[in-house]
Amino acid sequence: MSYDAGEVERLPRWPSYPPRGYLGQLEDECQVAFRSERSSLSLQDCNFYHTSVLRDTTVIPGAWDLRGVENSYLGNLEGLAGARVLELGPASGHLSFFMEDKGASVVSFEVGFDRSIDLLPSIPRTDMRAERAQVMSSAVMAVNNSWWYLHKDRSSSAKMVYGNIYEMPGDLGVFDAAIFGSILLHLRDPFMALEEATRRTTRSVVVTEPYYEELDGEGANVMRFAPESGNRGISTLWWNLTPGAVANMLDRLGFDVAETTHYTVKHHLGHHLDQEPVDLRMFTVVGTRPS
Ligand SMILES: C[S@@+](CC[C@H](N)C(=O)[O-])C[C@H]1O[C@@H](n2cnc3c(N)ncnc32)[C@H](O)[C@@H]1O
Repeated sequence: MSYDAGEVERLPRWPSYPPRGYLGQLEDECQVAFRSERSSLSLQDCNFYHTSVLRDTTVIPGAWDLRGVENSYLGNLEGLAGARVLELGPASGHLSFFMEDKGASVVSFEVGFDRSIDLLPSIPRTDMRAERAQVMSSAVMAVNNSWWYLHKDRSSSAKMVYGNIYEMPGDLGVFDAAIFGSILLHLRDPFMALEEATRRTTRSVVVTEPYYEELDGEGANVMRFAPESGNRGISTLWWNLTPGAVANMLDRLGFDVAETTHYTVKHHLGHHLDQEPVDLRMFTVVGTRPS
């Protein structure tokens, strides 16, 4: 981190007190406050999850390079122009800004304030409160800083809301589409998160996940608990999902699933940017509310 002591006081911290019920975050006053708290961020304060391109054409490498595959990653979702979109877990925001460029009004939802990402416990068990504080105040905040860095660089109008993905603030309103890009694998309860977002979604839900061929096949409906028994360290990887499992969940939530898109994405395994990226297989399922 490169800021001086005065700035440390101004940068958001984790944990911090949320507004009551996490309400009011979409109001201009709150978005302006979020923005100004982060207005002095430098590149050193950021961790770029996505390969990102600044307005001056500088390319900042990230572990995931979605450039050129955005449409596939979003399941070739149509009608972004004029749509109100809820994006769950934007990381550095490559998709937030892509959708905004297509004319969508984007609300991105992240963990923050006093909420943490879901961590699998380690064995032997360590102090999970300390682990959470460590992960949130370093890794997650640095990635979120990159969203705000790009937001400023692009003069974006996308909005950010923080809170509990399983009980989202009651004043978010209604969305045309909800986007779950590579997040269900990181959630203790993927179905609950889907239910929570889709109950305020009128048209489409997009779910993108890594593809595991060995789990798939005719009629496969599998959600595998991901941790391997030999790996007992702190982890955020909960599930490996098949397209069939996602389609089944969306069906139960009242969405029709017509098509699954398969493609590859360039990814630096283990987020080791010094190593060559691999082509990682992914799938996207789009659910549509019957008219
Ligand atoms: C693997 S990244 C995916 C980024 C982006 N959606 C994409 O597809 O490229 C997961 C994102 O979900 C967020 N996330 C993870 N657990 C979360 C939780 N419990 N509640 C809200 N956001 C969460 C992370 O902070 C991160 O922004």
